Amino acid sequence: DTGLTTLDSGFVNTASCSSAITYIDGDAGILRYRGYPIEQLAEKSSFLEVSHLLIHGELPSAGELDEFTDRIRRHTLLHEDLKRFFDGFPRDAHPMPVLSSAVSALSTFYQDSLDPFDDDQVELSTVRLLAKLPTIAAYAYKKSVGQPFLYPDNSLSLTENFLRMTFGFPAEPYEADPELVKTLDMLLILHADHEQNCSTSTVRMVGSSNANLFASVSAGINALFGPLHGGANQSVLEMLEGIRRDGGDVAAFVERVKNKEPGVKLMGFGHRVYKSYDPRAAIVAQAARDVLAKLGGDDELLDIALALEQAALTDDYFVERRLYPNVDFYTGLIYRAMGFPTRMFTVLFAMGRLPGWIAHWREMISDPQTKIGRPRQIYTGATERSYVDLAQR
Ligand code: SDX
Repeated sequence: DTGLTTLDSGFVNTASCSSAITYIDGDAGILRYRGYPIEQLAEKSSFLEVSHLLIHGELPSAGELDEFTDRIRRHTLLHEDLKRFFDGFPRDAHPMPVLSSAVSALSTFYQDSLDPFDDDQVELSTVRLLAKLPTIAAYAYKKSVGQPFLYPDNSLSLTENFLRMTFGFPAEPYEADPELVKTLDMLLILHADHEQNCSTSTVRMVGSSNANLFASVSAGINALFGPLHGGANQSVLEMLEGIRRDGGDVAAFVERVKNKEPGVKLMGFGHRVYKSYDPRAAIVAQAARDVLAKLGGDDELLDIALALEQAALTDDYFVERRLYPNVDFYTGLIYRAMGFPTRMFTVLFAMGRLPGWIAHWREMISDPQTKIGRPRQIYTGATERSYVDLAQR
């Protein structure tokens, strides 16, 4: 079985690589990390435990989880010179390019953990990234609102630490709502990996040149920024707010999508692989209802989202094209209810996807058989022709 299938377009769809990390059945709506169903992990596990599972291949024992957690806790601080990077960014910078710049800069500060073939250095760069990305993300937000940065408090879990560095102030104590911590932790689990999506394939492709982990993940962050990929959760909120501005007329918006008005798509719908309901979307939809009920978020936008989903699931245009809600359709409503600005939504996606990127980079580095080969192409340009001197052109 060569993994080659010929698409209707005549192009050959090749399996880009082999991997033992995540299994997806797009028709059946199945997603498993290292064999464990996403529904069970979302309900019973924690983000750090799932990170260990994806990266090391097994659920950790209690002792292994404690040791993994403690190692990560010790690396949550940023180098003081890296903190000064944030002074240079414009106040209105989007946090995603700030994230990719800071992650790329990690390879200048931590040159003792760049060798992809030294197991201790790979482990150290893994722990540094898992520990520092939440701190970098929180600082990108603080920079955008002109508030002082908070140092990490390592008595807290990674997710609590992130919420405190994001929403806390030096002048007063901050206690993250345990329900919020649990919901955010579960959302990070849902985003932790997804096979060969655009950003993960980017990490693998860059890493296939033996580029270090920080450089490869920085490239993945840039790929995730795209509105058709990780940027979709931000675009969904902008779409819902646009429908609200137009009087909440869902039917009129659906018609615009069906008429294929330029730039009008049902954001948060459709998927390259899932041609049925994205199993993550079902879990997020329920969490959205729970969080909005508890926090009293923007019910009007939730109502518009529910009406949009209902309209699309019963309309032949979407049914024929097998367009269902994907993981991004409801997440933005939850993040907004938690107090995150729209521009931080894709940053939260990147925080979730980080263990998946790391797991794929490590798998590819340790097993060249799983490397994405150098892709070839079907040449469609000019046939051979001779040079024409300038005077004759
Ligand atoms: C993520 O790969 C991953 O795993 C990604 C991800 C992950 O965890 O990493 O799951 C995260 O990126 C989820 C996707 C988030 N993006 C969006 O929600 C943006 C909106 N979605 C579309 O851009 C689109 O659905 C894609 C790109 C996600 C998938 O496109 P497909 O399945 O390849 O479909 P297509 O582009 O070949 O289109 C098929 C038809 C076309 O109509 P026709 O030309 O046949 O008439 O469906 C239409 C498209 O116009 N279509 C849509 C649509 N998506 C496809 N029409 C309206 N709204 C949409 N969202």
